[in-house]
Amino acid sequence: MSAVTVSDEQATSTKAKVIQPAWVRALHWTNAFAMVLMIMSGWQIYNASPLFGFTFSSSITLGGWLGGALLWHFAAMWLLMVNGLIYLVMGLVTGRFRKKLLPITPEGVISDTKAALTGKLSHADLTKYNQVQKLLYAGVIIVGILIVLSGLAIWKPVQFQYLTALFGGYDAARYVHFFCMAAIVAFMVVHVVLALLVPKSLRAMIIGR
Ligand code: HEM
Repeated sequence: MSAVTVSDEQATSTKAKVIQPAWVRALHWTNAFAMVLMIMSGWQIYNASPLFGFTFSSSITLGGWLGGALLWHFAAMWLLMVNGLIYLVMGLVTGRFRKKLLPITPEGVISDTKAALTGKLSHADLTKYNQVQKLLYAGVIIVGILIVLSGLAIWKPVQFQYLTALFGGYDAARYVHFFCMAAIVAFMVVHVVLALLVPKSLRAMIIGR
């Protein structure tokens, strides 16, 4: 009986140590890689016909010129879309989104933001996201869906004409696509800084424990 109890305990403690399951880690890092390729090649594409009064320095763009950047963008697009779809399906089917990202309440977000700004936010239990993390992760997942859909709308405006119309036409879809990029870049800056400030969370996203 004791042997059973010990092995059960061992199994539970080994299980409890896994903070980020392998599928989340693999999909997360593939997504980060694909996002960087999409953003850098996207900036080069933007430079060929800027929406605003500025362009991106060629030192931070990918592709060298419009044609090259489009090839990078359309190649990485498949990686981002397939990887993102698997993450969405897994997140829904395994109940991860419900368990880890919900509920999000305004009171919770306000109190956790205050706690974070005054250095009182606890990082003791990495298996649970605080309300600010939940909001940021749920938000970036929604923006991730929007950037892919607006991208499809400007890539194939004839084939996906209803989608393009849903965004208010080709030009409006271009703006949506740009602002989603800006939101993702802003998220990434905050996200990477926070990950570096709490290195054990980064460790968990790399080795799982
Ligand atoms: C090099 C860049 C990145 C680093 C170092 C990084 C790091 C991390 C870490 C350490 C976590 C665990 C969270 C925690 O325990 O607090 C995490 C989770 C997460 N990251 Fe990133 N990340 C990067 C890029 C990205 C990008 C580009 C996106 C999306 C645009 C993203 C979206 C997410 C999401 C949605 C989660 C929650 C995943 C889940 O629990 O299902 N990350 N990231």
